[in-house]
Amino acid sequence: MVATSPTAFPTETYNSPDTSGLRYVITSDRPLSERSPNQELLPISARVNEADHLEVGGCDVVELVQRFGSPLYILDEQGLRSACRHYREALAQHYPGEALAVFASKAWSCQAVAAIVASEGLGTDVVSGCELQTSLIAGVSPDRIVFHGNNKSRVELEQAIAAGVTVIVDNWLELETLASLTVDLPEPLPVMVRFTPGIECHTHEYIQTGHIDSKFGFDPDRMGAVFEFLSKTPSLTCTGLHAHIGSQIFETQPHVDLPQVMVGWLKLAREYGLPVNTLNVGGGLGIRYTEHDDPPSIDAWVKTVATSMQAACQAAGLDELPRLMCEPGRSLIGSSCITAYTVGSQKDIPGMRHYITVDGGMSDNPRPITYQSVYRAAIANKMSAPATETVTIAGKHCESGDVVIKDAQIASTQPGDILIVMATGAYNYSMASNYNRIARPAAILVSDGEANVIIARETNEDLMRFDRLPTRLQA
Ligand SMILES: Cc1ncc(COP(=O)(O)O)c(C=O)c1O
Repeated sequence: MVATSPTAFPTETYNSPDTSGLRYVITSDRPLSERSPNQELLPISARVNEADHLEVGGCDVVELVQRFGSPLYILDEQGLRSACRHYREALAQHYPGEALAVFASKAWSCQAVAAIVASEGLGTDVVSGCELQTSLIAGVSPDRIVFHGNNKSRVELEQAIAAGVTVIVDNWLELETLASLTVDLPEPLPVMVRFTPGIECHTHEYIQTGHIDSKFGFDPDRMGAVFEFLSKTPSLTCTGLHAHIGSQIFETQPHVDLPQVMVGWLKLAREYGLPVNTLNVGGGLGIRYTEHDDPPSIDAWVKTVATSMQAACQAAGLDELPRLMCEPGRSLIGSSCITAYTVGSQKDIPGMRHYITVDGGMSDNPRPITYQSVYRAAIANKMSAPATETVTIAGKHCESGDVVIKDAQIASTQPGDILIVMATGAYNYSMASNYNRIARPAAILVSDGEANVIIARETNEDLMRFDRLPTRLQA
């Protein structure tokens, strides 16, 4: 694919509607290495080519749809790698102790993504046996994998022990099961323990996890009992403590408060003789889904956490800084992917609403119907056409709530146009379903003008594979 020079858009603002709000301005003079991907609406490699088409990773999005079909997840490798580097470099710069970022793979678990983050020196956080298997196959080092979950099965715990990854213990049943599974191990099993920190933040109720009324982690008032249990269980060694306060967070104050709370926990754990030396602050940094979202950069977020951790350790009189771990998901991958759809039918309800329908919807992006999430869209085959239309972009599923974007501002469209939705890298593919027996889309990785399939498009036969027709019902 031939890379063409970008259209001469204003350079100071980018990835946002221009001053008249009529089109997206996507170029910038700032070097890519300085652009924090989570603050962009489009992947950092996005530009408009001479055909007035959107290009990502040096690939023309319209050609990608012709080649791979739609809907299509298009993941920008440069953007994902850049976000990994931002985390790694910010931790090295702002935290003088040992530090590790692990990708919360629930945001998008597949082998290619896990291999990329591992090659950038990050680990992964996994939440199921299959997420664990995915990371291991992709080459993530077991000592950089942490295993989460509020209801891990016995089989999953055995799998984690066999793989040598660190289990983050969530509740009493798990603690007791682990104690029994490890009795005969030659060495104690290193574990971390998750507590709810009681810190609230302003995000959607479903993605808040740090407040006390949460299904995740031990209550802080059970801390003494948990530490006591661990101190009397020689087959388990508690090396770390964990907390995660929520997702899509823009405020920094919760992440100033969290290290202070956690250093107090660490001191208490040590009073019980536990060798706790890792504090894992979870993930949570938000991304830009619309021009109104203004998340801190990755660097600013890491600096906030690292500075607060050092201050808290100093105030607590600790001789050495603990190992600092964080688990970003959304801010690592969310902004580096777009979903491309083909526009189909339209419906006009005079004086009320104009619907345009795309060939996907809630099955490939369940976030709008689940969290009322808001996205931005553009027409990839006419990027500079003024966005004069206010339309509701509906999905093709048999559900009135299957709306991708309500009241979107886009250019006038015809059937066959390629509509892209921005910032769909996090919790889209990983939460996708087969509702209405619609096969899940393919995902491709784009980089330097090359496109590779990383997840094949499902077929109807794939969906049918698990059906069984009892003999008496067979035709
Ligand atoms: C325990 C844990 N860690 C990390 C994350 C990643 O959060 P985010 O994608 O907001 O960075 C989550 C997401 O819910 C989580 O539950």
